[in-house]
Amino acid sequence: MDSFTNEFNPPPRLLMGAGPSNIHPRVLSAMTTSLLGHMDPDFLQVLDDVQAMLRIAFKTSNEVTWPVSATGTGGMEAALVNVLEPGDTILICENGYFANRLGEIALRCGANVYKVQFEPGTAVTPEQVEAEISKHDSVKAIAMVHAETSTGAVSQILPIANVAHDHGALLIVDAVTSFGGIELRIDDWEVDVCYSGTQKCLACPPGLSPITFSPRAMQVLENRNRPTHSFYFDMTQLRSYFQMRAYHHTAPINQIYALREGLRLVVEEGIENRWARHQVVGKAFQAGIEAMGLGLYVKNPNDRLPNLTSVEVPDSVNASSVRKFLLEERNIEFSSGLGAVAEKVWRVGLMGYNANPSNVFTALSALEDALSNQSFELPVGASLAAARRVFSESN
Ligand SMILES: Cc1ncc(COP(=O)(O)O)c(C=O)c1O
Repeated sequence: MDSFTNEFNPPPRLLMGAGPSNIHPRVLSAMTTSLLGHMDPDFLQVLDDVQAMLRIAFKTSNEVTWPVSATGTGGMEAALVNVLEPGDTILICENGYFANRLGEIALRCGANVYKVQFEPGTAVTPEQVEAEISKHDSVKAIAMVHAETSTGAVSQILPIANVAHDHGALLIVDAVTSFGGIELRIDDWEVDVCYSGTQKCLACPPGLSPITFSPRAMQVLENRNRPTHSFYFDMTQLRSYFQMRAYHHTAPINQIYALREGLRLVVEEGIENRWARHQVVGKAFQAGIEAMGLGLYVKNPNDRLPNLTSVEVPDSVNASSVRKFLLEERNIEFSSGLGAVAEKVWRVGLMGYNANPSNVFTALSALEDALSNQSFELPVGASLAAARRVFSESN
């Protein structure tokens, strides 16, 4: 028999890259329950449960809140194709790779795209956004990435929302890496459109993009001159399925079972407790990295994400060899950098189910080992002691 017909048994990897992260065992088991039809009343109840729990996790009362059947990029596309019409103007706060992708999609919508550039590894700040928006007559939206996964930087949302609303623009936020992991308050921070992904801090597999539109954003959609060119992502059409029970497309049933279970875990833990868990675990890991003598790519401690850390690769060390060692010898996945810093950083995620002390110690000791294997001199054990200090101070 040809080898491609063999049963596939994936190795037991610890997924500590930029995502996906390991899925919770309860999520895995929910995924394997029997299929229902997408119009079955029992499944429609599941859809209602998911919408209710997404509102809790997003901290919103937005009626239009559901999982789009697509990965995070699909959510990004859904946000932009619904808001933008050809000839509209959008401002993109660009501080990394995913903000750049927002600009690419906006261009394909026929929008006039203006970028406010920030140094990679820094946060978006309102002063520059204010200076740029003041140059234009009518800006329909500002778009920003809350947690820039390409660098590990987090940006404050509320100051940018204030700039947008002072100028009559909507605020679109990418929360693919932040949702379910770090503080995110859609209503309090007056976010108009926000999308995420399931494969990071929700501990679910990739494939869905939770999304939410404020009433103000829905009003913009309802007043469009013409419908969006996208049938699949048209939120006014999707509403017919998610809320009015008319067929739109065949929902990915088992993905939605998975999300329901992932959200049940969020609600059981409490969203604020979940944010706190990610904070302490990230802080401990970053303390360990610095104690090892390595640098963090995001220089301002206030701008560092706890759940995704970009670690600077020392000059004498081969970045790929370390990742290969971790994967092949320790079954641990770290991500490389993206773009210009591809071989200059490792991106390490502590997200969702993986955000726990045990994984911090596992990753730090494996990295110490991988670096020693490359003859990099480091104070053996110092990283573990530093992480331990952070955990004991947080108790
Ligand atoms: C901030 C951010 N936005 C968008 C995406 C795209 O999501 P996906 O790869 O699920 O399409 C990612 C993926 O890592 C991301 O980190």
